[in-house]
Amino acid sequence: MQLFIDTADVQEIREAAELGVLDGVTTNPSLVAKTGRPMRECLEEICSIVPGPVSGEVLATDFDGMLAEARELAAIAPNIVVKIPLIRDGLRVVKILTDEGIKTNVTLCFSPLQAVLAAKAGATYISPFVGRLDDIGHDGMEIVEQILEIYGNYGYETKVLVASVRSPNHVLTALRMGADVATIPFNVIGQLIKHPLTDVGLARFIADAAKIPSAS
Ligand code: G3P
Repeated sequence: MQLFIDTADVQEIREAAELGVLDGVTTNPSLVAKTGRPMRECLEEICSIVPGPVSGEVLATDFDGMLAEARELAAIAPNIVVKIPLIRDGLRVVKILTDEGIKTNVTLCFSPLQAVLAAKAGATYISPFVGRLDDIGHDGMEIVEQILEIYGNYGYETKVLVASVRSPNHVLTALRMGADVATIPFNVIGQLIKHPLTDVGLARFIADAAKIPSAS
């Protein structure tokens, strides 16, 4: 499974990239707004840091606007993936972009049926938002399981990108289900690294190392 980071903060992206575990980046309008930087500048810098797929989202919601913006975003760098919302006109845009060879990430997916439509339109990635489903009392990972089952049944090539990840358990479940990608916030990447027994064990090794006599 590929690990993407879900942020537009280049400092976080640099730190995650230095770990050597980062396959790509996803952003959205809320994450870019938090940086206080223009979208294009932000995406250009991210693409210069990470060679893997970098998702940038259209801001328009009408057909012509989304298509024009998608083409502009795709021209930023070869590794840009254009994020399109899962709405009626969004599906039409995905079909055209796919025919033009532009990679797409269909976002704001909350049901397996929406995911089927995205796959049929030719989406490169589908992004089910698991945390936001959990927030309203549903089981987000159950939707992922259903999408994987259906895509497997019919051989859809769209990659399942688990988004709105809130915890290491989302990542573990995605791995066990065989999802293609999980996009993870910076703080959750930190949680994946940490284990209290690793800290206790290291403290003991450091203490014991001090007792080792030096060679005479
Ligand atoms: O980038 C899309 C998605 O991961 C957003 O997550 O935490 O805002 O629901 P969240």
